[in-house]
Amino acid sequence: MKNGPVFIKAAYKRKDTMIARFKHLIVALLSQLRIRNPIYFMKKKILRRVLMRKMLNSPVQELALIGAVNCKAIVENEVLDKWIKDYGLDLSNILPSEGNLAFPFFNEDVLKLLVDSKFSSILEGYFINMYGCRPVLQSIPYLVISYPNISHGSFDPKKNNFPAHWHTDYQSEFTVHVPLGEINSSCTHTVYAVDTHTSFFRPPSDPSKIKNIFKSFCGRGDAVMLDVDGWHHGHLEGSSPRLMVQFKFTKGNDLLNYPEQGITPKARMQIERTKNNIHTFDTIKRQLRKDMVFSQSISSQIPMLAVIEDNIKYYHDYI
Ligand SMILES: [Fe+2]
Repeated sequence: MKNGPVFIKAAYKRKDTMIARFKHLIVALLSQLRIRNPIYFMKKKILRRVLMRKMLNSPVQELALIGAVNCKAIVENEVLDKWIKDYGLDLSNILPSEGNLAFPFFNEDVLKLLVDSKFSSILEGYFINMYGCRPVLQSIPYLVISYPNISHGSFDPKKNNFPAHWHTDYQSEFTVHVPLGEINSSCTHTVYAVDTHTSFFRPPSDPSKIKNIFKSFCGRGDAVMLDVDGWHHGHLEGSSPRLMVQFKFTKGNDLLNYPEQGITPKARMQIERTKNNIHTFDTIKRQLRKDMVFSQSISSQIPMLAVIEDNIKYYHDYI
């Protein structure tokens, strides 16, 4: 009897180790076969089937079917012109660079887009039907500028700071791009493998196997909505810059909070690149000071915007 508990503990330990080893083996096997979390994607497939039966001919259904949709005329021209003027975003002020330029972009117009717009209702419909919950901002929105000084063919993921190789993002991540100018073949654009957002597989190592591709060409002020559980990448083209507001959402997982130990060297490099490659960065800085005050006034009671309160810290790295 004296050795009973010790024996039981040892037996449990052996069982734990065996389960851990088994789990490790399964994860390694799935990863070798380029298979993703099968339970998550099976659930997503089932919920999509339910959604397809109850909604007909809606953008939510198109999104569920393809994984990507272009939602037309979301931001009016006057608002886009105001942004360009207030932030000094004239194209002639921007230099080509070896990675994306980006700064936080959160103001009254952006808030309205998030809480009361055609895109926000499509997004909410998609999340409620596919995940059973409302979308949550993963990080503060950013104004992202892609103006590569290299061609797509010479892209090297180890050297260049563009997401230009086929990949998927955090599980349940959803991206919305609102371009300030037309997106066509003369600027960098995101390409997306149709109907891969419920796939059990990661992108194949041979990209020529990917045939059915959605190109995110769109008009000024449209919203390109992408479920980035699907395979995608930026196709680099540097004839003219792409300027867009980029929103990232998830079910509430993997929030991109400001790192406790401060931002990474890679993030610091991106900030420096942004400051150095926009001639009018002083105009942006002035506007960011106003945006920071506005962000501080936003109630953290709105669950979708909870990350804003934390991400305000990023403004200090820019101003
Ligand atoms: Fe991505």
